[in-house]
Amino acid sequence: MANTIASVLRLDALLDGVLTAVGGTPLVPLRRLFRDAPIQVFAKLEGVNPGGSIKDRPALAMIRKGIETGAVGPDTVVIESSSGNLAVGLAQICRYLGLRFVCVVDPKTTRQNLSILRAYGAEIDLVVEPDPTTGEFLVARLNRVHELLERHEHGYWPNQYGNQANSRAHHETMHEITLALPGGVDYLFCAVSTCGTLRGCSEYVKIHGLRTKLVAVDAVGSVIFGDRPGKRLVPGHGAAIRPELFRPDLSDAVVHVTDRDCVAGCRKLVHEEAILAGGSSGAVVAAMTGMAPDLPAGATCVAVLADRGERYLDTIYSDTWVRTHFGEIPAHSTRAPVVEAPVVEAQTADGGGPPGRRGW
Ligand SMILES: Cc1ncc(COP(=O)(O)O)c(C=O)c1O
Repeated sequence: MANTIASVLRLDALLDGVLTAVGGTPLVPLRRLFRDAPIQVFAKLEGVNPGGSIKDRPALAMIRKGIETGAVGPDTVVIESSSGNLAVGLAQICRYLGLRFVCVVDPKTTRQNLSILRAYGAEIDLVVEPDPTTGEFLVARLNRVHELLERHEHGYWPNQYGNQANSRAHHETMHEITLALPGGVDYLFCAVSTCGTLRGCSEYVKIHGLRTKLVAVDAVGSVIFGDRPGKRLVPGHGAAIRPELFRPDLSDAVVHVTDRDCVAGCRKLVHEEAILAGGSSGAVVAAMTGMAPDLPAGATCVAVLADRGERYLDTIYSDTWVRTHFGEIPAHSTRAPVVEAPVVEAQTADGGGPPGRRGW
């Protein structure tokens, strides 16, 4: 791994050009989706970030930390396992800074994401087989990252699953939300994968003594909160390993959403609010739909919508794809199960029945 670096990269390089557009995303009211519930809902549109997602924030923060600590310099080769939004965020920053970026992907990475990464000049390193012990591609990709770090004298691994610069980047996300809603936020709904968003927002809430309750929105089949691993079709939220950034006390409630409800949530969001968003945003909408009837009247709720929908046109927004996987186009209604956090024991949820709500 790192790191004897001949010269240094200046931190000011991160305060210039396209990188100045990271963060400061809009918060918009959603008046239509939850018109029957006596709550106010706002959406933080993270797809407006220049790389198209919330992951621009941690990508920038992890590179900044690397520069600050001397681990990233002009000769650095950034090496990371990601097939989605973080990869695009890193590719953008590395292009801007003139750094090499080797992105470790697997066959599940979409052609469109590969094309975006190549357009930014990222080098693609494809892992073709899952890890033989766990059967997981994520494990195989991380093993490959370690191999590449051995090979590159100036390799830098941002390590999105364990790097606290990832979660700290979201103090700013929560700060922006708090500034935009001076009356306070009662419930914040955010999708989880590395837990960077959840942890950063949760830390901010605790540091500032805010009343906000956090609802973690995970995928059925994700192991983050102790569920059994299972097949997941929609990328973005959920994880096949519990991230180092996870802590059991980060959220006040956890909702596990099926792929089908996630698709229904996305379609409902674009139908009602004309917001074309990615899969995890559909999961957030599904979770809020399930909980809305139980939220106190007048509650102010914020949905973090992590990315845009264009990269999901061939899946979530394709009737053919949806029919192939679910047999029908889900109706614009959904009620997802809710459980009280912290949750660390195995549990199952199929999204089909009434919410398994406890202690809310
Ligand atoms: C679309 C989308 N939603 C949600 C998440 C989860 O965010 P975090 O990694 O901060 O938990 C990700 C992470 O990659 C994502 O790409």
